[in-house]
Amino acid sequence: MISYWVDSTETTNFPNLNSNLTTDVCIIGGGITGLATAYMLKDSGLNITLLEAARIGMGVSANTTAKITSQHGLIYDYLIKSFGHESAKKYLDSNQEAIKAIENIIKTENIDCGFEHQDNYVYTCSSNYIQKIKDETSAVNHLGLRAKLVTETPLPFNIKAAICFPNQAKFHIRKYILGLLSALKNTRIFEDSKVINIKLDNGRYKVSANNHIVDCKHLVIATHYPIKNFPGMYFLKMYQDKSYVIGVDIKKTLFDGMYISAETPVTSFRPTENLLLVGGSGHKTGKNNIDLDKSYVNLENYIKKIYPDAEVKYRWSTEDCVTLDKIPYIGKFSKLYNNMYVATGYKKWGMTTSHVAAKIIADDILGKENPYSSIYSATRLHPIKNCKEFGNMLNQSIYSLAINKIKKPKLDYTEIQNNCGGIVNYNGKKIGIYKDSNGKMYAVKPYCSHLGCELSWNNLEKTWDCPCHGSRFDYTGKIITEPTTRNLETFDLESHP
Ligand code: FES
Repeated sequence: MISYWVDSTETTNFPNLNSNLTTDVCIIGGGITGLATAYMLKDSGLNITLLEAARIGMGVSANTTAKITSQHGLIYDYLIKSFGHESAKKYLDSNQEAIKAIENIIKTENIDCGFEHQDNYVYTCSSNYIQKIKDETSAVNHLGLRAKLVTETPLPFNIKAAICFPNQAKFHIRKYILGLLSALKNTRIFEDSKVINIKLDNGRYKVSANNHIVDCKHLVIATHYPIKNFPGMYFLKMYQDKSYVIGVDIKKTLFDGMYISAETPVTSFRPTENLLLVGGSGHKTGKNNIDLDKSYVNLENYIKKIYPDAEVKYRWSTEDCVTLDKIPYIGKFSKLYNNMYVATGYKKWGMTTSHVAAKIIADDILGKENPYSSIYSATRLHPIKNCKEFGNMLNQSIYSLAINKIKKPKLDYTEIQNNCGGIVNYNGKKIGIYKDSNGKMYAVKPYCSHLGCELSWNNLEKTWDCPCHGSRFDYTGKIITEPTTRNLETFDLESHP
């Protein structure tokens, strides 16, 4: 299950961190945000080091649909009503500028990544959403962007209404990332260098990875979910959402434009040169009362109703952080820590937001004013806008941290079929088990190494997923996704026969 973007590009091969070093700026995370930040600092004269836990551009960045747009669902009417006209305009203008910044980088660095301007649409097939689309169109026009209200699109089915943002763009994300990398001649880049600790000592940060220390003045945490819990406490302010993508050969000419539905279940369409990417089936990471096996099947059935001859070539999934007020956290990590920065909570709109973040953080490091930093401030204190979601998060934490832990497992380990897993009773002990196709068992302690929530078994991807803040682990207990920085504790079956 790798994405089309990964399948059509080479992987990188940078060394791992194998000595202590001193640098001006250390960036943790080799996704699009980390690389764009390094790019924006590359001519500053500062010495820059980038640490990636695995391989560059192979995490969330590689699993996107790569729509470069300031149209982040129906958000502008909400932003005006919740934060006022000026803040909503800053959000819009910063993302529109990010589209131009990406185009400029591509031209300046001569990056061959299929960048192409396209219109982007939020559409509805439901009469209940027509007024929302109209309200959004009027909000966006009021903010100064000429959005169009339309009732027809190039989509292969009828819609009730859509709002069109003209002149947005798409590209091949991995080719863009590899192009950015070629431009970072003076940045020291290390792969397979997982950061496990950050300490502040005499105004400098000591970042530990691979038993070595990077000593830096400025630290940028660009790890999708911040790997440091305190004092930022982002785990109280965000949740993770998962969604699925299929890459389909529709055996017909692909249509123009990029699309996402206003109504749930959210469905997204995005053509590449030869495939139609169809996204959807979203849910909160670690949710265990849904049939994950249907995630791809539902998308495939849906597209085959439209294109009966369609052939599914790729399947992949992704997840992203969603903040409680729907605005990303970008800027100073905490008021208590000078020179430490964070960028997270992109709500799956990371192509432009990564470049908004890179510019805000680079400007701050260089002592420049950034006109948009206030709207994204990661240390903002607003009344909670989304009380329902905050309640859901608290509820989930109470269940996963306490109530579920004292419940006895429903299954005995002998009842687990091959190729399946779950939390089971093993001779009186509660453990997590996966049986491979030959019946070999892999056992873990089913509690998240981040803050201890009970994990859920994801049988679709054979992973342990945390319903609290979205850390994920493979069936052996190895980390796939932060915020945790530690693998799961394994359980030795042989010493507990
Ligand atoms: Fe926070 Fe699991 S990710 S407890």
